[in-house]
Amino acid sequence: MAVLAHLSDPHIGPLPRARLSELAGKRALGFFNWHRRRKAIHRMDTLADLVVDLKEQAPDQIALTGDLVNIALPAEFLNTRAFLHALGQPSDVAVVPGNHDLYVRRAAAAGGEHWGEYMRGDDGESFPYLRRRGPLALVGLSSAIPTAPFMATGKLGVEQLEEFRAVLELLKDEDLFRVVMIHHPPSRKRGDRFKYLIDTAAFAKVLREYGADLVLHGHDHVHSIVYLEGPGGKKVPMAGVPSASASGGHGDLAAYNLYTIEKSGNGWQCEAVTRGFRRDHDGISEIARRVL
Ligand SMILES: [Fe+2]
Ligand SMILES: [Fe+2]
Repeated sequence: MAVLAHLSDPHIGPLPRARLSELAGKRALGFFNWHRRRKAIHRMDTLADLVVDLKEQAPDQIALTGDLVNIALPAEFLNTRAFLHALGQPSDVAVVPGNHDLYVRRAAAAGGEHWGEYMRGDDGESFPYLRRRGPLALVGLSSAIPTAPFMATGKLGVEQLEEFRAVLELLKDEDLFRVVMIHHPPSRKRGDRFKYLIDTAAFAKVLREYGADLVLHGHDHVHSIVYLEGPGGKKVPMAGVPSASASGGHGDLAAYNLYTIEKSGNGWQCEAVTRGFRRDHDGISEIARRVL
């Protein structure tokens, strides 16, 4: 048995002071947006309360699916490193980056420099990475790419998709519960052309061929469970969670999911418990419980 916690999109603040030279282009827009709107939504006391509750559940592993920072200023990466250390050891916390972590091209290497050990596989490899933890196989993908202002699209790229396929091929004969972590939800909805995963179709093709047992994502900042297509018509649950610091705004309030995974006959049973804040309730409570 294993217990896996999933949280996402903490958007850690406050934004540090920035030099004017750091605020060129897209960052200027993000900086303005943070002070106008986002700093009231993403509150660090909310995030701290959520993490306390999560750690009380004593999960075996924690998955964190991106958007740790906001406009990818160098000082934001340092703050975030402290947050990660408080969350857990690099061997117990698996991170994949979001679009805000690669907000601009010149921040491309910063996440790797500051939190690299949280984003590597058992052999030290980068994306896609593979961690075997008890009955779990955790596969980390990076969909984060620098984009133009007003855009938040993601992309895996041909090379990463090929390697993803090779990882799933490797896992085919192992009796492990395969969890795929990706920031952008790999399913295209109407009206999201500014923020979708560009190679959704190519991801879906790999999943249809090899399957997985659970896909975890962030980016949308809402509770979500949909089913993707696996091999032979088998359904693969894909779950998203709200921002772990959300205290208001249009999205759902801060929450996380806790998965209890157990062997069941020839397959697996996976129970998902959602814990977090609700608009009609004080403090953190259980929001939903279901078998996926
Ligand atoms: Fe986000
Ligand atoms: Fe995002």
